[in-house]
Amino acid sequence: MNGQARRVSHRIGAITESATLAVDGKAKALKAAGRPVIGFGAGEPDFPTPAGIVEAAVEACQDPRWHRYTPTAGLPELREAVAAKTARDSGYEVSPAQVLITNGGKQAGYETFATLLDPGDEVLVIAPYWTTYPESIQLAGGVSVVVHTDGASGYLATVDQLEAARTGRTKVLLFISPSNPTGAVYPPALVEEIGRWAVEHGIWVVTDEIYEHLVYGDAEFVSMPAVVPELADRCVVVNGVAKTYAMTGWRVGWLIGPPDVVTAATNLQSHLSSNVANVSQVAALTAVRGDLSAVAEMRAVYDRRRQTIVRMLREIPGIECPEPLGAFYVYPSVKGLLGKDIRGRRPATSAELCDIALEEVEVAVVPGEAFGTPGYVRMSYALGDDDLVEGVTRLHKLFSDVR
Ligand SMILES: Cc1ncc(COP(=O)(O)O)c(C=O)c1O
Repeated sequence: MNGQARRVSHRIGAITESATLAVDGKAKALKAAGRPVIGFGAGEPDFPTPAGIVEAAVEACQDPRWHRYTPTAGLPELREAVAAKTARDSGYEVSPAQVLITNGGKQAGYETFATLLDPGDEVLVIAPYWTTYPESIQLAGGVSVVVHTDGASGYLATVDQLEAARTGRTKVLLFISPSNPTGAVYPPALVEEIGRWAVEHGIWVVTDEIYEHLVYGDAEFVSMPAVVPELADRCVVVNGVAKTYAMTGWRVGWLIGPPDVVTAATNLQSHLSSNVANVSQVAALTAVRGDLSAVAEMRAVYDRRRQTIVRMLREIPGIECPEPLGAFYVYPSVKGLLGKDIRGRRPATSAELCDIALEEVEVAVVPGEAFGTPGYVRMSYALGDDDLVEGVTRLHKLFSDVR
C-alpha cells in the first residue's frame, strides 16, 4: 500500500453487495426504462400493507409525541405486544424486557451476531443460506461453517450433519424455518431433535422466524425454544413484521433473547441507530396487536401461486423443482441446463444462466451462487399471478431452444 492507508477498510471492503437486492434493482431499473421485465428476485410481498395499519401510522405522524427520540429498545407498548404475540403464535413465553425492536429483521440478525461472537467463533450455517447472514457473521469476526443440503433431502439438515460440522469453536447454530431461499420447513420432530442436540452441546441457536405464518399444506411451523424450553438461555429469536403484514418498507423487526444479550445488543443499537422510527413502530404495534386475518388471505394467494409455479417449472426440461412448503420461494436446480447451447450461449454457471434469462427474455431470477449453492436459482412467487405465468412461460420458451 506504499505506506498509504487503504481507502476502504479490509473489513467493510470484504462485504459483497446483496445479490437479491442487486437482481431486484437491475429488474426495477429495466422496468423503469420501459422494458417489460418480470422480476422473481425480490423477497417481498406484492400486497399493500393492510389499511388499518397505514391509518394508525398516518395518525401517528400528526402526534408530536412521535416526533422525538424514544427508548432505544423500542416503544414499551410494542415490546409488550411482541412478547404477547410471540406467546400467542408460537407458545414461547418471554418478558417484554427480552425484546429489542430493531430496524427490520436484518438489523436484528446483525446485532445478534455482533453481540454473540468473538473472533474465530464458528457458526453452523445451513446452505442454501440467506445471503445476508454470512456477511453479518464475518463482520462480527465469526467464521461460517457451511453445512450443505440439497433438493433430495428437501433442503433439510440432519443432526448427524450438524454433529459432523461441530468443533470446539462452534458457538452458534443459525436455524431458519421456513427458509429463505428454499422454502423448506423443518418438521416439528426434527426441530425438537436439533434443539436437544444444541442444548446437549451448549450451542447457541439463532432462530429466524420471519416466515412463521407462511406455511402450506400439512407443514407446521414450530419455534425451537418453545419445543425445547431448556434452550431459552442460549437462544435468540429473529422476527419482524415485513413478511407477515406486507410491511417490508416500514423497517420494523425484533430480536428476543436472554436479558444479558438483549441489554448488550441494546447498548450496541444505542450507538448505532437509536430507536426505530416511531411512526413505523406505531404501525407495527397495530399490526401485532391485530389478528392474523390479512396474512391468512395472503397465504391462500401465495399457496395458489406456489402450486402454479412448481407445476410450470416441472414442465421445463433441465429444471428440477422440489416442492417448497413455506415462505414464498422456489429453489429449483438448473444443473440440467448448464453447458447447453441456449441461443448460441453456453452458460457454465447458474449466474451466467440468470444473465441469459434477463438479457434474452427479460426475466429476473437470483442465482444460487448468492446462497452458497451454485447450480440452482431462487424465484420468489410474491408477484402477480399473470406476471408469474408470463415469466415462467418465457423461461420455458427460452430453455426449449436448448441444444
Ligand atoms: C430469512 C430472512 N430473515 C430476515 C429478513 C429480513 O427482513 P427485514 O429486514 O425486511 O425485516 C429476510 C428478508 O428477506 C429474510 O428472508
